[in-house]
Amino acid sequence: MSQATPSRSIWSNRWAFILVTIGSAVGLGNIWKFSYLAGASEGSVGVFIVVYLTCVALIGLPLLMAEILIGRRGRGNPVVAMLNTAEESENSSWWALLGWVGIFGALMILSYYSVVSGWMVDYFWQSLMKGIQVDTPEKASAAFNAMMTDPWRLIRWHTVFMILVTAVIARGVIGGIEAANRIMLPLLFLILVLLTLWGAVAGDMPAALRFMFNLKPEAIKPGVVIDGMGHAFFSLSLGMGAIMAYGSYLDKQTNIGHTCVWIALAGVFIGLLSGAAIFSLTFGYGLAPAAGPGLILQTLPLAFTHMPGGRVVAVFFFLLVIFAAWTSAISLLEPFVSWLTERYGIRRTRAAWATALPVWLLGVAVCLSFNRWSEFTILDRNLFNVLDHFATRFMMPLSGLAIAIYVGWRLGKVIVVDEIRLKQRVFCLWFNVLRFVVPVGITLVFLYELVLREKLG
Ligand code: TRP
Repeated sequence: MSQATPSRSIWSNRWAFILVTIGSAVGLGNIWKFSYLAGASEGSVGVFIVVYLTCVALIGLPLLMAEILIGRRGRGNPVVAMLNTAEESENSSWWALLGWVGIFGALMILSYYSVVSGWMVDYFWQSLMKGIQVDTPEKASAAFNAMMTDPWRLIRWHTVFMILVTAVIARGVIGGIEAANRIMLPLLFLILVLLTLWGAVAGDMPAALRFMFNLKPEAIKPGVVIDGMGHAFFSLSLGMGAIMAYGSYLDKQTNIGHTCVWIALAGVFIGLLSGAAIFSLTFGYGLAPAAGPGLILQTLPLAFTHMPGGRVVAVFFFLLVIFAAWTSAISLLEPFVSWLTERYGIRRTRAAWATALPVWLLGVAVCLSFNRWSEFTILDRNLFNVLDHFATRFMMPLSGLAIAIYVGWRLGKVIVVDEIRLKQRVFCLWFNVLRFVVPVGITLVFLYELVLREKLG
C-alpha cells in the first residue's frame, strides 16, 4: 500500500537543491581521499584523474539522475520512495530492501566519517589556539600518532562533530539542512579559492599541475583505473539513499538532468581545485605527496609551519575541510531520520538525537579501534577499516548496481520519461548508458575491489 506523506517539505528553489546536493557530494572524499589517492598513484596521476572524470560522466551522472528520480517520484524517505515507486510500476515490494540498505549503510558510513572529521576538528582547534608547530616530517608523524593513540581526544572531537551534525538535522529540511548549506558552501568555496591563490603564490603551482595532469599512459600502475572509478562513486554520495532523500524534497518542475550536470561539474571542480591547492603547497615545501591517508594531516602542517602566515592559512584550511565534511555528514544522517519521523510520526528533534546516539556509540568503538582495541581485528583489519571496506567496497557498488537495474530495466519507461524530461536524443543516450554502461562498469569495480585486490593485496 502506498504510504502517503502529506506534509513534506520542498526546497526553497532549484538552486537550493543544487546547493545541498553539492554540499553532500563535496566532503572528505574530495579533499582528503582525492588528494591521497592521486598522491598514491604517482607517475600516473593524470590517468587517475582522467578515469575519475570519465566515470563521473559515465557512471556518476546517470546514477545521480536515477537516484533523484526515485526520490522525487516516491516522495518519501528511501524506504517509502522505493515502496511507492515499486507499487506504481507493479514491481515486488522487495525492492524496498534497497532503501533499507541505504538508510542503514549511510549511518554506518557516518559513524567513521564523523571520527575522521573529528581529526580535522582537532587540527583546526590546535591551529586556532596555539598553532601547530612541526618542523620535521618525524615531528608531524609523531603529532598525528599522539592524536591517534589518545582515545579520549578522538572521542571528544568525534562527539563535537556528531553534535554539530545532529543539531542541523534537528532543525529540519529548510531551517536546518538548507540553511546550513547556504552559509557553509559559499564560505567553503571562498576559502578554497583563496587557498588556491595562496598555493599559487607561496607554493609551487606549476609542479602541482604537472603532477596532476601528466598523462603518461605507459606509467599506469595497476589499480589506478579502478581507484578512479571507485572514487567517482564515493565522491558523488551515490548508492546510500542520501541523494534519494534529498531528491524527495525536490519540486516537480525542476529538470533533473540539467540540475545533475551542475552538481557533477561542481563536485569535480572543487575536487580538482583542492587537489591543486594541496599539491602546490606540498611541492612548494619540498614534501612528498605519496604520504597515504595521512597526507593532509602529516604533510600540510609541515608546510603551514614553514610558510609565512601559515597559522592563519592552517585555520582556514581546516575550517574548509570541516565545512565540507559537515555538509556531507548531514546527508548521511537525513535518510534514517526522515524514515523515523515519517514512519512513526516522531518529532524531528527527537528522531535526530535518537538516531545520532547509536551512531555516536559505534563511532566511539571506531575511536578505540585505533588504540585500546587495536588487537581486535577481523581479517587483519580494525573496526575502522572493516566499516570503510564493507561500506565503500561492498554496499555502495552493489546498491548502485541495483539502482541502475531498477530504473533502467524495472521501473518502466512511462515513469522514467515523465520524470526525466530531456530531448529525446539526450534521453536515449542517458537511458542506454544507465542500462548498459553503468551496470557493466560497477560490476568491474566490484569484482576488482572484492576479488582481485584482496588477492593481490
Ligand atoms: N560524498 C561525500 C564525500 O565525498 C561522502 C558522502 C556523503 C557519501 N554522503 C554519502 C558517500 C552517501 C556515500 C554515500 O566525502
